Amino acid sequence: MLKRLLALVFVVALTLAVLPATSNVAAQGGVDCGTTDNVTLTFISGTVGNEQDAAKKLADNYMAACPNVTVNVGTRPTSSTLTLAQYQLYFDAQAPDVDIYMLDVIWPGIVAEHMVDLTEYVEQDFIDQFVPSNIVNNTVDGRLVALPWFAGVGMLYYRTDLLDKYGLDVPQTWDDLYTAAKTIQDGERGEGNGDFWGFVFQGNAYEGLTCDALEWQASSGGGTILNPEGVIEVNNPETIEVLDKIAAWIGDISPEAVTTFEEEGARGVWQAGNAAFMRNWGYAYPLGQADDSPIKDKFNVTTLPGKEAGMSAATLGGWQLGVSRYSANIPAAVALLKFLVGPESQVVYTLDRGEQPTIPSVYDDPQIKEQLPYLSSFRPMLEAATARPSTVSGADYANVSEMYFTAVHSVLTGEADAAQAMADLELALADAGYQLPQ
Ligand code: GLC
Repeated sequence: MLKRLLALVFVVALTLAVLPATSNVAAQGGVDCGTTDNVTLTFISGTVGNEQDAAKKLADNYMAACPNVTVNVGTRPTSSTLTLAQYQLYFDAQAPDVDIYMLDVIWPGIVAEHMVDLTEYVEQDFIDQFVPSNIVNNTVDGRLVALPWFAGVGMLYYRTDLLDKYGLDVPQTWDDLYTAAKTIQDGERGEGNGDFWGFVFQGNAYEGLTCDALEWQASSGGGTILNPEGVIEVNNPETIEVLDKIAAWIGDISPEAVTTFEEEGARGVWQAGNAAFMRNWGYAYPLGQADDSPIKDKFNVTTLPGKEAGMSAATLGGWQLGVSRYSANIPAAVALLKFLVGPESQVVYTLDRGEQPTIPSVYDDPQIKEQLPYLSSFRPMLEAATARPSTVSGADYANVSEMYFTAVHSVLTGEADAAQAMADLELALADAGYQLPQ
């Protein structure tokens, strides 16, 4: 035993003597492997829809090009809110075993102190490939805390076959949506599908509800929770009206269970063929088009409705990748991060996932144009998307969002009416230091 141990120590010492202690870059097949040492890196990816498989494919591509690097793809909870709670534990422990974190677009101000400043490691030319507003979003006090991996906007999914069957147009307003959803639901139930619903969305008390409710209020002229100057925008007639309207849909055109749905809960009903309309992100598109999907070639996506035609709003979503300050292999992690967010990986990942690329040239890829025909029409919407108030609230964003989605959830479940919930929320936000409207 001792002999074997000594032999091992000897081999390790020899290896260290022979290999350069730090090697800058090992480019193999055009891929920058960051190091010639044997390293293991852990990269936390998502679990919504096919996120794990898509991330593992990129990790496999990297390991094929860089055999000295082992990439572990870790998981996070499906909910953005619970993911942040999990990450806070890692940050508190200064965990060295997570190298790359997948970060929600609203978190740069929250996670900045735990991420390396990528401008110290990544050439400006590489950074310049990305949509500039994404880079601005990810820059906190001059530090670039993450590079954008993919973006997203809220979309309205609708059943083309059922709109045709009932002679209906794509709804432009929330009231049109209600009428169309009700007509289709009544018709389909009348034909024997008792599980059929008009409209599904994300109604659980978590970050996803903040996204959906922000769309309802912004598309009604009710503002954006906080405006960029920190003035509270929740307690106004437009917001109250639309929240009461959506709450009244529950149990009517939306299942009671919608108040527990995240993205996947909504997609479960939709993709089984049991909903006329769904609010979701782009990831549900390729999954709905899979060969074994009951709704393949029976749906399309468009902009969400508004109070009046043309008042549509789409919440800006998306995820970034950042390198942990506590990583034991920062240069190697940066090299992997560049591979994951780079243009070649974005083509592969976009085809699998259907979310929006963050490098404009990726939209021109011929395969993407063919398989994801909606993507180019959603490209301008990324620039026009409604941001959650994470820049003005910074490190306090998670608190603001939690206050908001808790209040909205209480309206959806019927615990409070919208007027009361929004008046209370306004006071709570004022107590938290935000400005009351004049
Ligand atoms: C999607 C979006 C993200 C958002 C989340 C809410 O993952 O990309 O930005 O916070 O949904 O559920």
